[in-house]
Amino acid sequence: MKITVVGAGNVGATCANVIAHKELANEVVLIDIKEGVAEGKSLDMWQTAPINLYDSRVIGYTNDYTKTANSEVVVITSGLPRKPGMSRDDLIATNAGIVKSVTESIIKYSPNAKIIVVSNPLDVMTYCAFLTAKIPSSRVFGMAGILDTARYSAFLAEALNVSPKDIKAVLMGGHGDTMVPLPRYTTVAGIPVTELIEVNKLDAIIERTKKGGGELVNLMGTSAWFAPGAAAAQMVEAIVRDQRRIFPVCALLNGEYGMKDIYLGVPVVLGKNGIEKIIELKLNDAEMALLKESANAVKQVMEVLDNMKVVA
Ligand code: LAC
Repeated sequence: MKITVVGAGNVGATCANVIAHKELANEVVLIDIKEGVAEGKSLDMWQTAPINLYDSRVIGYTNDYTKTANSEVVVITSGLPRKPGMSRDDLIATNAGIVKSVTESIIKYSPNAKIIVVSNPLDVMTYCAFLTAKIPSSRVFGMAGILDTARYSAFLAEALNVSPKDIKAVLMGGHGDTMVPLPRYTTVAGIPVTELIEVNKLDAIIERTKKGGGELVNLMGTSAWFAPGAAAAQMVEAIVRDQRRIFPVCALLNGEYGMKDIYLGVPVVLGKNGIEKIIELKLNDAEMALLKESANAVKQVMEVLDNMKVVA
C-alpha cells in the first residue's frame, strides 16, 4: 500500500514521519515543489528507521506525480503557512491555485484515492480540492477538527491536572475563530467536564482553543506542525486500518444540520471508504446558533473562492 503526502514543509514532513513510525503503509511518498527538499527530508526520516525500528519506506520526489500512482490516501499540505497578523483566510489567493493544481496531479495518477486536505484556509481549500477532483465527497475531506479538539483537550488536561488520554470532546464548525467547542459533549473518563471545572475557566479554555493556531503563529512566526501533522496521520490511520473511528472532520454537508453545499467540521465515522457516515448530533438552540455563525464565516470565504474562478 502507498500513502502520499504532498508538501514537505513542516506539516507534511511531520505527517509523513508519523505515518512511517506507525507503519501505516510500506511506501510513503513525500512530494515537494522545491528541488531536493522532499528527497532530503525523506532520506533523513528513512535513517531513523534503524533507530526507531520500523520498516515503512519514505521516499521523496521533486514534483514527480508519476511516483504517487495508485496511492490509497493522499494528504495535501501544500501552500503558504500563516505569518503573525494574518488570518487563515488571507492565504486564499495563493493557496487556492496551489491546491487546485496539486489535486489535478493527484487525481490523474490516483483516481481512487481518499484525499485529506490540510492547507489553509482549511474548509475552503477542502471545497477547492472537491471541486477540482470531481470525485464523491466521501473521498475528499479536511483535517482540522482533530487538531482543534486536541488543543481543547490539551488545555483541559492541563487545567484539570489529569491525563489527556481521558478527555473526550467534540468540536464542530470551521477551522477559524468561529469554531464551536461543545462542553455538553466533553467528558473526562466519562464524567461531564462541567462537573469538574468552573464555568469561567472552561470559557477561558474555549476562547484559547479558538485562537489556538494564532497563539502558535505569534510564538513561532509561522504556523504549527507537530499537532497538525499528527492529526492528519491519525485520519490516515483510521482509513488504512478501517478503524471506523469517530472524529470531527471537515466534510461536505448535504442536508445534515440543515445545511447544504458547504464544507464544515462535523463528527464523522472514518473508515476504508473515507467518510463512512456523517453523525448528526441533536444540538440545542445555542449550539446550533454558534454552528450557523461558523458556517456563515466559512461561506463568505467560499464566495471569495467562487469569485476568483480558480475552479470551474
Ligand atoms: C493551525 C494551522 C495548521 O491551526 O491551521 O495550527
